[in-house]
Amino acid sequence: MYKLALIGFGVVGQGFAELLRDKQSTLREAYGLEFQVVAVCDAQRGSVLDRQGLDLRELLAWVGEGKSLDQFPGEKHGLDALETIEVAGAEILFEATWTDIKTGEPGTSHIRKALAQGMHVVTTNKGPMALFAKELLQDAESRGLLLRYEGTVMSGTPVLNLLRHSLAGCCIEEMQGILNGTTNYILSQMAEGGSYEDALKAAQQLGYAEAVPDADVLGWDALAKVCILANTVFGAAIHPDPIALPCVGITGISVEDVARAKKAGKVYKLIGRVWREGNEVRVSVGPQELDKEDPLAGVNGAQNALKISTDVLGEVTIRGFGAGKTPTGYAMLVDFLDIHQSLSR
Ligand code: HSE
Repeated sequence: MYKLALIGFGVVGQGFAELLRDKQSTLREAYGLEFQVVAVCDAQRGSVLDRQGLDLRELLAWVGEGKSLDQFPGEKHGLDALETIEVAGAEILFEATWTDIKTGEPGTSHIRKALAQGMHVVTTNKGPMALFAKELLQDAESRGLLLRYEGTVMSGTPVLNLLRHSLAGCCIEEMQGILNGTTNYILSQMAEGGSYEDALKAAQQLGYAEAVPDADVLGWDALAKVCILANTVFGAAIHPDPIALPCVGITGISVEDVARAKKAGKVYKLIGRVWREGNEVRVSVGPQELDKEDPLAGVNGAQNALKISTDVLGEVTIRGFGAGKTPTGYAMLVDFLDIHQSLSR
């Protein structure tokens, strides 16, 4: 029976908790996976800890009604994230706080603290993994702990697991794709005649956009993801600095640009790219006008896709949701299962 602590209970944390609630018996029957959520802590929604386990169904309904976790029945309330990690007695931390690509905080401190406490970690937070992947992964490994982060790139669409497991025998030469759901949603809406402002508002309501959506529309979020790919797949050490690196977002693209491209049989997409140049690894993010025949051209809405050029299999393309409550919550679920299966071996 794993004891779980959930830090960050916004769109993603709740998406994960809903899947835990709905799949509890399947997880037990199919994988022998049993768990108890012992703590939930969120900067806006308060915190509750109960070492006997919290009722997820009731807790989700409570938060759904807009009530504070500080009033939810439990043993302790009012703890901050670091205190929660310290006293919860949990074995696995699920970290789903907001991404800050400049500092990696507060997620990095949560992950460091959890590892120091002997906890395995699952995160969907791009800041810590874009900035400190090497250090955090080494820290986990040196302690015999597991750190999983599938949800940091293309949410629950299994791109990191694909690279780590199924493409492990290939040499990866280049990866390029659509790695931000918000901007792809906005560009898709604009191609259908919608306005940038309305599309951004809808992307926020649908839970695709970052807390501060500048990170999406300026290309920083896609840059964080290409850096995670570069640093964890190619072993590079690239700092996701949007000034120093070639990083352009979609704010310079007008409805007229999109319409002109459409007339010419083209489509605008924000493309992230990671490639090798001699011994160097390079990354870039920027809008491109793609031909309709390009496999990335028909990827619309909050869908993402990644084309992976390999030595053995040629080009492998994976496509699926890149943002949103359930797809990103699913990434946490599959990482949880992966930890369980790794520990059961
Ligand atoms: N804001 C991100 C996006 C969330 O739109 O892709 C998923 O990383």
